[in-house]
Amino acid sequence: MGKGDFLRLLYGVLAFCCVTVVIADDPYRFYTWTVTYGTIYPLGVPQQVILINGQFPGPRLEVVTNDNIVLNLFNKLDQPFLLTWNGIKQRKNSWQDGVLGTNCPIPPNSNYTYIFQPKDQIGSYTYFPSIGMHRAAGGYGAINIYQRPQIPVPYPTPNGDFTLLVGDWYKTNHKILQSTLDSGKSLPFPNGVLINGQANPSFTGDQGKTYKFRISNVGLSTSLNFRIQGHLMKLVEVEGSHTVQNTYDSLDVHVGQSVTVLVTLDQVPKDYYIVASTRFTKPILMATGVLHYSNSRIPVSGPIPGGPTIEVDWSIKQARTYRWNLTANAARPNPQGSFHYGKITPSRTILLVNSAPTINGKQRYAVNGASFINADTPLKLADYFNIPGVFSMSSLRSSPSGGPPFIATSVLPANLHEFIEVVFQNSESTLQSWHLDGYDFWVVGYGGGQWTQASRQSYNLEDTLTRHTVQVYPNSWTSIYVSLDNQGMWNMRSALWERQYLGQQFYLRVWNPIQSLSNEYYIPSNALLCGRAAKAHN
Ligand SMILES: *[C@@H]1O[C@H](CO)[C@@H](O)[C@H](O)[C@H]1NC(C)=O
Ligand SMILES: *[C@@H]1O[C@H](CO)[C@@H](O)[C@H](O)[C@H]1NC(C)=O
Repeated sequence: MGKGDFLRLLYGVLAFCCVTVVIADDPYRFYTWTVTYGTIYPLGVPQQVILINGQFPGPRLEVVTNDNIVLNLFNKLDQPFLLTWNGIKQRKNSWQDGVLGTNCPIPPNSNYTYIFQPKDQIGSYTYFPSIGMHRAAGGYGAINIYQRPQIPVPYPTPNGDFTLLVGDWYKTNHKILQSTLDSGKSLPFPNGVLINGQANPSFTGDQGKTYKFRISNVGLSTSLNFRIQGHLMKLVEVEGSHTVQNTYDSLDVHVGQSVTVLVTLDQVPKDYYIVASTRFTKPILMATGVLHYSNSRIPVSGPIPGGPTIEVDWSIKQARTYRWNLTANAARPNPQGSFHYGKITPSRTILLVNSAPTINGKQRYAVNGASFINADTPLKLADYFNIPGVFSMSSLRSSPSGGPPFIATSVLPANLHEFIEVVFQNSESTLQSWHLDGYDFWVVGYGGGQWTQASRQSYNLEDTLTRHTVQVYPNSWTSIYVSLDNQGMWNMRSALWERQYLGQQFYLRVWNPIQSLSNEYYIPSNALLCGRAAKAHN
């Protein structure tokens, strides 16, 4: 698509207002991506994966904050396809979120042009396919968002930048994994761990220099511990928050999360192991890569460095050391700490309890008893065209109400500009990972057992960080504060893909009865229409 086409589309999208001017100030970046199947051998056997422009993982989106991304995605698979942009806040723009509640899937041999702006965000993010079990076949990639030139970040410019997409991996085809879930069974244990699509990748740097490592867990179900033999990692950024720069010899990264660290190659010149191993599993799976000093003539040696395996306390303690650097810049030139989240009283508390019920003889997953099922029409379009009966705003309660688990297309209503507390209560013995699209949120506390009002006394109301995906430990709770300042239809989901696919998700409808382009953009002129939205419109 040329710039002329783009401008026509853009003015179509934003035909009415001043918003055009604001967006047009920032540079455009144009991409054409084609999604196909291809064959690779990451674990020694040939398997079909999803490629983007022939690559697995897909191309890296390297952008500067507030760039306008115009990305024309061509689907050459035999199934409908969508990409979602994990952690990109899509301000006023849930139209581009790329999940089935906001977008019609792109049919085979068809295309859709996403237009979005990662606004006021700096950090390491990812994208991935959101339909079915496509994510098990690849199709994911990194979104690295840099600061604008005039905005300093709180660390010296590194000598290089490595992106590591790490995740558990199956040899099994995504369609077979999906049919396993459709038949009511759980997925088997994964077959391995991959870093950038490989079991043994290599990264080369110069002795004495400092490199940025952007580490994201793009797997389906397994928390990972990441470490580099003989080297410390200085944490500088977590999902857009500049952190207090503690050093760690290993880091837990849960499914859907990203961390950014600086590593100085300050050891004798040789090769060192890079390890990503599974947490809370038996057996333990791992990928071992190599950090190669450019002046090294000595291959990796010694024992592979060990890390935590099943220890939960270790992980909680580490999580509590993640703090916001209150004096560091954010993407905007005002200090992050100028917003005193801890001094605001939430208007209400939403208590979300996960469960793994059997419904109609099949394995399902639920939140407050509601097991989500996609509708035939994206919820955002149903809302826009006033199509009744697509979703329910009364099925999911804001705390568990007892009663048997049920299936519903559940939407939780909320008002624009509410400031809410959400408590994730995990009564299961496995670790959970929860994600909210369109937002980041303050992680104010983690604790064991049952959350009570008294648990608030342990909250960090001073300097916790904001992030988009948070872990909930076994038989424990995690509390977050969310400022609902982004109107739209936003997916809240388990980042554990089996759970998401089998119902552990819902949509948060952040709404204001007065429709205004200053709160939410108009429907894109190229929006695909499907289901009852196609009928309503034609
Ligand atoms: C599909 O691509 C063409 C250019 O090849 C573009 O003009 C059109 O707007 C795209 N379709 C959508 C729905 O974005
Ligand atoms: C926080 O950021 C400031 C400003 O960039 C920096 O000077 C300071 O070292 C950082 N503090 C910590 C504890 O990381």
